[in-house]
Amino acid sequence: MSLNNIESLSPVPSGSLEILEIRNIDNNSEEKIKLSLVIPTYNESKNIPTIIQKLTQLLDSRIPQQYELIIVDDNSPDKTWEVALDLMPIYPQLRVMRRTEEKGLSTAVIRGWQVAKGEVIGVIDADLQHPPETLLNLWEKIELGADLAIGSRHVEGGGVSDWSATRRFLSRGAQTLGLVILPGVIGRISDPMSGYFLVRRRCLFGCTLSPLGYKILIEVLGRGKIGLIGEVGYIFQERQEGESKVTKQQYIDYIRHLIRLRLSLWQINRFIRFGVVGLSGVFVDMTFLYLLSDPSTLALPLTRSKIIAAELAIINNFLWNDAWTFKDISQKQPGKRQKIKRFIKFNLVCLAGLILNVLLLNFFFNVFGLNRYLANLLAIAIVTIWNYWLNLKLSWRSTEI
Ligand code: GDD
Ligand code: MN
Repeated sequence: MSLNNIESLSPVPSGSLEILEIRNIDNNSEEKIKLSLVIPTYNESKNIPTIIQKLTQLLDSRIPQQYELIIVDDNSPDKTWEVALDLMPIYPQLRVMRRTEEKGLSTAVIRGWQVAKGEVIGVIDADLQHPPETLLNLWEKIELGADLAIGSRHVEGGGVSDWSATRRFLSRGAQTLGLVILPGVIGRISDPMSGYFLVRRRCLFGCTLSPLGYKILIEVLGRGKIGLIGEVGYIFQERQEGESKVTKQQYIDYIRHLIRLRLSLWQINRFIRFGVVGLSGVFVDMTFLYLLSDPSTLALPLTRSKIIAAELAIINNFLWNDAWTFKDISQKQPGKRQKIKRFIKFNLVCLAGLILNVLLLNFFFNVFGLNRYLANLLAIAIVTIWNYWLNLKLSWRSTEI
């Protein structure tokens, strides 16, 4: 391998795993890249020549010069990246990335997608267990309008070669666990464990992916804006060269990944921030309810005092939520006008919540005879969940979705 070859290695992106819009590519018309297929490799030196030859033959027949193959190698001890570099002069559509700082299948795929030029990005294993021929069927699904085209072992024409009963049980067990924890995500497809798929890049714009372990598809489906999905059956082949890198760790990572994705889709961190702000609102609400309605202070009528106290709490909560809880969204909607729009929506949502709060307060106070402050706390807790959900969907609706 000559030194100038090393220079033709693709730069390794760093920082967050965010998929950005295609930018600053010298993309004159005839070279416009439609498909960027990432091949993550670790100790696949024996498989690389075959898979590159097969993929090139297939794609040259369908989208000549409009595709690129991106090998992302994690500095394999068997010098897979060198073997790939030596193939570059023969295969003009081939690009090679050698990672020395990071390791892991899913992040390798995303780093490849970050340097990709194609409108459609995809992944295929290097060990020929994913039959390259299926790629053209996946591409067809994309051309027919699918946002995501997945190679599946669990639809017609799909299957595995001679897998042990244990491996079948583990694979199905993992899928069932996924259905329990993320029904809205895992339930959309037949083979969530698949590592063979194509996705429209624009469905991942602005998404910061944070996969754990092997299951990049779940991350794409969970965080992406995926509309139409197409599935193509394929038989998962036996590996001829090299060995699988799957260890017990991958199963643990999978469970951790499911839980992490679940919590982030519920935006638990954001809910906690919303709750903290809500608590500061309770303090404002209570303080003014006391200053206005308590017999020892101004002794104004309860409902009137409550409405004033609640409105002051709403203003307090809006300012903190806009500056902290929903900072990432409000930053993307700059200017006074947008802020006032958000405040009006927030106020309307909270006013609806206020009515619910007053009804609940009076219900707990008059019907259950609860102490006025306990009744108020209970009412506020129920309304907080209501407010969070509605404000997430309405006031701080991310305009990208
Ligand atoms: N860059 C990089 N870094 N590549 C890796 C790493 C890594 O740490 N670990 C594995 N790979 C590459 C392998 O070289 C291979 O090309 C591909 O990722 C899949 O690895 P295997 O170890 O062969 O996985 P498997 O065959 O057991 O599982 C595959 O099939 C499953 C069923 O579709 C993977 O695609 C799984 O994601 C998938 O669930
Ligand atoms: Mn494999």
